Amino acid sequence: MKGIILAGGSGTRLYPTTLVTSKQLLPVFDKPMIYYPLSVLMLAGIRNILIITTEKDMPDFQKLLGDGERFGINLSYKTQAKPNGLAEAFIIGGDFIGKDCVTLILGDNIFFGPRFSGTLKYRSKLIEKEGGACIFSYPVKQPERFGIVEFDREDKILSIEEKPEKPKSQYAVTGLYMYDNSVVGHAKELKPSERGELEITDINNIYLKNGTLRMEKLGRGFSWLDTGTHQSLLQAGQYVQTIEENQGIKIACLEEVAFRMKYLSRTRILNNIQNIKNNDYYDYIRKLVE
Ligand code: G1P
Repeated sequence: MKGIILAGGSGTRLYPTTLVTSKQLLPVFDKPMIYYPLSVLMLAGIRNILIITTEKDMPDFQKLLGDGERFGINLSYKTQAKPNGLAEAFIIGGDFIGKDCVTLILGDNIFFGPRFSGTLKYRSKLIEKEGGACIFSYPVKQPERFGIVEFDREDKILSIEEKPEKPKSQYAVTGLYMYDNSVVGHAKELKPSERGELEITDINNIYLKNGTLRMEKLGRGFSWLDTGTHQSLLQAGQYVQTIEENQGIKIACLEEVAFRMKYLSRTRILNNIQNIKNNDYYDYIRKLVE
């Protein structure tokens, strides 16, 4: 399984904060936003990851994350010229995906919940074994703003609609998707939607028609946080702060994930951070691995 983080777009809704930097590099409490989706891929056991960003922002992402060695992973980078839609990720990332299955996560999506790593690994293995796709759904208050999935009592998916005026359920399709290798071919066949984008919802509908689309419901006790507006970005930061300070744990601390997933040894981690002193984030890591 390979991973792609889509971190393009111009972030106009967050102007002026995003006038000179990428939205996905803005802080969510104590770390850059992209740490959160990156931690999700790492928790799924994915170590080969492509970051798709704009030409302007790519050098900043490279400065922050490098080739991934510091986190025991392999990072590569590509650019998306224009916001042509989420499904373009599979065209841009075609060579990177090669013959593998792929998980796509949006660079501004924050997931946090119990036993998530286990869920991710289970879903990933299932697709590698049986093919098909998996979406992750989550109940929301304003379904008009999202891709919406309708399902029956047995959780059999009935329909998926992009930003419907009359939503058929409260369950949004979150920005985390797993596909078998045929997604690359499907993406190449897509036609742009009315808003001029290659829609991920159209990809999901192809799998739905084939009868190979699965769904994992992320319900009560789970958090999927939005960072799309000034308000929700601040709220996400406050949420992370509350949990971290209450429990003395960190969410999306990449060094911790690398350590727990056994991607990096204790010595490697300590060596990597030895020069950074008087800093809560790195002191936490030191305490954890020691
Ligand atoms: C995109 C998808 C939508 C999904 C959402 C999750 O919306 O098109 O189906 O529910 O991400 O964040 P967009 O961010 O392009 O409005």
